[in-house]
Amino acid sequence: MGGEMKPMKTNDQLEPTVFVIFGGAGDLTWRKLVPALFDLSQDRSLPAEFAIIAVDRIKLGDDALRRRLHDGVNQFSRFGKAKTAAWNQFAKHIHYQQGDFKKPATYAALGKQCAKLEKAWGTKAHRIFYMATPPSMFGEIPKYLGKAGLSRDREFARIVIEKPIGYDLESARALNAILAASFDESQIFRIDHYLGKETVQNILAFRFANPLFEPMWNRRYIDYVTITVAETVGVEHRGGYYDHAGALRDMVQNHLMQLLCLVAMEPMVSFEADEIRNKKVDVLHAARPISRDAVPQSAVRGQYGSGNIAGKKTPGYREEKGVAPDSKTETFAALKLFLDNWRWQDVPFYLRTGKRLPQQASEISIQFRAVPHRSFPPEASLGWQPSRLVLSIQPDEGIVLGFQAKYPGPKMQLRPVDMRFSYRESFDAPSPDAYETLLWDVMKKDATLFMRADQVEAAWELLMPVLEAWQATAPSDFPNYAAGSWGPENVQELLSPGHRWPLPTELVLADKKRGKNS
Ligand code: BG6
Repeated sequence: MGGEMKPMKTNDQLEPTVFVIFGGAGDLTWRKLVPALFDLSQDRSLPAEFAIIAVDRIKLGDDALRRRLHDGVNQFSRFGKAKTAAWNQFAKHIHYQQGDFKKPATYAALGKQCAKLEKAWGTKAHRIFYMATPPSMFGEIPKYLGKAGLSRDREFARIVIEKPIGYDLESARALNAILAASFDESQIFRIDHYLGKETVQNILAFRFANPLFEPMWNRRYIDYVTITVAETVGVEHRGGYYDHAGALRDMVQNHLMQLLCLVAMEPMVSFEADEIRNKKVDVLHAARPISRDAVPQSAVRGQYGSGNIAGKKTPGYREEKGVAPDSKTETFAALKLFLDNWRWQDVPFYLRTGKRLPQQASEISIQFRAVPHRSFPPEASLGWQPSRLVLSIQPDEGIVLGFQAKYPGPKMQLRPVDMRFSYRESFDAPSPDAYETLLWDVMKKDATLFMRADQVEAAWELLMPVLEAWQATAPSDFPNYAAGSWGPENVQELLSPGHRWPLPTELVLADKKRGKNS
């Protein structure tokens, strides 16, 4: 790379950092990690003394790796195609190291390389070890790092691990034990990328920076809560992985549980990472255990068949690449949960997620109770609905409050209306990608948005009876929902009388725009 170029714009608040990526030639590095680091560099959010060391098995030179990563940045950077000068300044910081993840020599070379950089910088650097490898390596790399002495410095060494954290409770415990043998919990950053999303973080801001709703955020005023994470995509190119995971492991154990914790937790006393994580884990401890016998009443699974999404024909799950033709894996999962505590006793929390649903929508709907007494005559309140608050995480980021208002005219007539806050309309600032937020936090050593070992294990513990029951009894009706529908029909049976799965807000708003008051 040319030597006369201006240096990368940097952030003086950050200390020297070496970012080691195991799986540096892989998809996650190319698609997410390096574009996020590049975007951070454009926002002056990287230290001046900064290096990326990509470690992988394949033979690759620095230049070839940089070309490959440049292509990823051009496709996935939030700033669009990278300007040549900006890319060249950034690319100087990237190095490739070929190595086998299961050979001590790889780690010895890595240690030397880090030491060399530190010598050149004349200072000690933070070393962040990111496991962007297949999960089979998660239990190996920490051991080798430990043996090579690279995990020893509690202040300067960190490890980052992506989900899946285990395949079930037992394997999650085993993996956490391996991590704990080499690293202190304060050095371990378990990523759930949902926590990096702006609107997920906004749940805390909305609940605890405003006095408005918190007094009503309990069983006295809230009838039930639904959490929906609906995707239109199928398994894409990940059939091989997904067919061994399924929706419960892939989405519910992590992303939906995080949303549940944020919506149901008690107010934190401070914004300290462990304080927030304590409050979140309390929610999982309060969850009423689902007994094996009660699984049919508490959980529903589904698998998509062929169908139609937005006018396009789509294949069934069993026809996807990498999927067994008689696969029993669920691509849809729904749960009914209760939290046994003072705030939430007997309030159902309905969770659902699925692939190939008609609409991409992640949202939490808080359904308030009906008013205790209806003073208006029945004809005044035709179509009357109790208030509903929707926290919309994606694709339409915002908050919608539905309530009753008087319809204009001489008669007293009530109609449901919406009050709407849209991120896009309210703030000029573009939202960073979740990975930008999370990588920045790893550099700052702020673990607030990361999963602690006990939380991961508590989530597995809650779901184990469902996983075991589903494993023990093969589904006889798969595929049981058509691509482009809202999942299997029996998902309705989870609901208590009078409850319903809401339509995603965006649909409701679109319908209203067309004049169909729903
Ligand atoms: C991942 C799952 O964790 O989250 C995928 O493995 C899923 O199956 C994805 O598609 C959804 O994330 P997002 O950010 O697109 O909502």
